[in-house]
Formats: sequence, C-alpha cells, structure tokens
Amino acid sequence: MPAEKNSVVMGKIKRVGVLTSGGDAPGMNAAIRAVVRSAVYHKLDVTGIRQGYQGLIDSDFVQMDSKSVSDIIQKGGTILKTARCEEFKTPEGRNKAYNNLKAAEIDGVVVIGGDGSFTGARLFNEEYDIPFVGVPGTIDNDIYGTDYTIGYDTALNTVVEAVDKIRDTASAHNRMFFVEVMGAEAGFIALYSGIATGAEAIMIPEIKGEARNLKKIIEPDDHRKKSSNLIIVAEGDEDGGAIGLAAKVKDDFSNYDIRVSVLGHLQRGGSPSAIDRVNASRLGNAAIEALLDDQKSVMVGLQNGEIVLVPFRKAVKLHKDVNRELIELAKILSV
Ligand code: F6P
Repeated sequence: MPAEKNSVVMGKIKRVGVLTSGGDAPGMNAAIRAVVRSAVYHKLDVTGIRQGYQGLIDSDFVQMDSKSVSDIIQKGGTILKTARCEEFKTPEGRNKAYNNLKAAEIDGVVVIGGDGSFTGARLFNEEYDIPFVGVPGTIDNDIYGTDYTIGYDTALNTVVEAVDKIRDTASAHNRMFFVEVMGAEAGFIALYSGIATGAEAIMIPEIKGEARNLKKIIEPDDHRKKSSNLIIVAEGDEDGGAIGLAAKVKDDFSNYDIRVSVLGHLQRGGSPSAIDRVNASRLGNAAIEALLDDQKSVMVGLQNGEIVLVPFRKAVKLHKDVNRELIELAKILSV
C-alpha cells in the first residue's frame, strides 16, 4: 500500500470520518483506534460519527484525536455506538448524509461493519463522490474477500469456553445438549466451535437435510453410546435453530435426556482476543492508506495474512463458503 510515512496531505483527503455499523463485534474499538491514530499519523483530521449511518443522517459528529482513543483497544462494544439504520437504505436518507458530510468537510469515510453496512456504503458511492472504505467487523465471519472479520476470533473463543462448561454438566448427567450459536445465515462460528469442543454433530445452514441423519451421526452403530452428546446448531440452520431442531428430532432420541441452550448475545461481548486486536489494527490502518490512495467503494480484507482491497460489489454479492474439508473432519473425529 503506497501511503508514505507522515505524508504531507496533497490529495483530496484532509478530514476522514469513522463509524461503526450493524451488530457490534469485539475489536471494533481497536479498529476505531487504528483508524484515528493512523489518520493522525498522516496529519488528517478525524470526525467520529456516532450510531452508525443514523449519525450521518442526524449529524451526530464528534471531533477525535489520538487521546480520544486511549485505553479502548482492550474493550468490547464500540465507543462510537452502532445501529442498523433503515433510513440510510433510502435515497433521501443518503442525500441527507451527503449534505451533512459536505457541511462537516469530511472527505472520506471508514465504515467498520458487516455486509449490510457495506451494501449501504456501496449505494452511497454509486451516487456521491465522497469515498467510503470498509473494514470488516462482525462476529459472523461471513464476508466474501476476507479470511477473517474483526470479532470472529473472540466470539469463537467465547463460544468454546461456554460449550466446554456445558460439556461438564452434560457428562455429569449423561445428557444430550442442543447448543445454539450465532452466525446469521452462515455456519462459521458453529463449524469451528464444534470442532474445537469435540461436538458429536454440527448443524449449519450450508448443509441441508442433516436432521434426518442425526440419529445415524450420533449412533453410527448399535453399540456406541457416549455419556454426553453435544450438538452445535447454527442459528441460521434450516430447522429453526436449536429449539426447532430439538423439537423435530426428539422422537428419534426418546431414550435421551435432552436440554437446549441458546448462547445468545454473550457471544458479541467481551474483551477482544489478541488476534482480533492485531487484525483490527492492521485493517484500520489499511483503510486510511486506501483513502489516501484515492480508493473508494472497497473493503480492506485479509487473505493469507496479507492486506487486500476488495470492491464492495464483490464483498456484498459473492458468497463466502465454509471449508468443506472441515465438515468432513468433524464427522471423522466424532466417531
Ligand atoms: O451479525 C451479528 C449478529 O450477532 C448475528 O450473529 C445475529 O444473527 C444478529 O447479529 C443478531 O442481531 P441483533 O443484535 O440485532 O439481535
């Protein structure tokens, strides 16, 4: 990436805005910090935009400097707050946002969020000349063009810690547990946490029709019975998450003492892992460099450990698949 150290600002960008949008994710604060500090390093002014796109529409702006991002790298949530904004989906909403950005003399915006946020950013950049650059931040890890999204690693570790605890009680009572994890329409958290916790079965939206095979997966032969059975269910799985699946298959497991546990929003909180902090730092810095390099309508991502630029057009349209080999691995290791 070309931006040089302490480059004198000769280009169009003199002031950048930064916002977090959509579901919060651990590491968003680390990303805000990286955006602000990197901008300051390059002698840019920074405006924080509160409440995601809603803050653009309402001019909810705050001046930021190096000090305003002290002591946040380790904190969950987002100091800028976040929202899912319906108004930004309308041309009128985006027009208000543009006028407010112009009035505040903001020349470029870094959007930290997921695919919904990038869809809005893409639309905005089709209509207006203020460049938007995206930083992938969502626990779901479901964005095409980046191997990791900020927050995924932390959420995964949170899930693993919780499921390990459920395993203790499941074993003590010889119970079967259906544990539901987040992930929206994708199975990344379920697949990885399932492998990491030695789950007996993993149910993800990417694999259809597994409910009818569950009996065979849990009891591949007549002799095999484990003292506990953990089934990790992605919330987006076709049978309606853990509650729906447990109801559907309960007759197949009438000899089992079944419990359901929905982990819920605890997966979104907590102090970010070291990996999320480092990824957020790299991506936040890369977003500023991309703006300085006159990029627009792109997301900065990580592929094979390297920073890449991915057009929003691709990041929001193309489907990121789970690693199918891992699905097989999970089956092999649960015999
Ligand atoms: O996208 C992050 C996520 O936590 C998803 O995993 C989940 O489906 C959704 O957000 C929950 O959204 P909300 O917090 O609005 O209920």
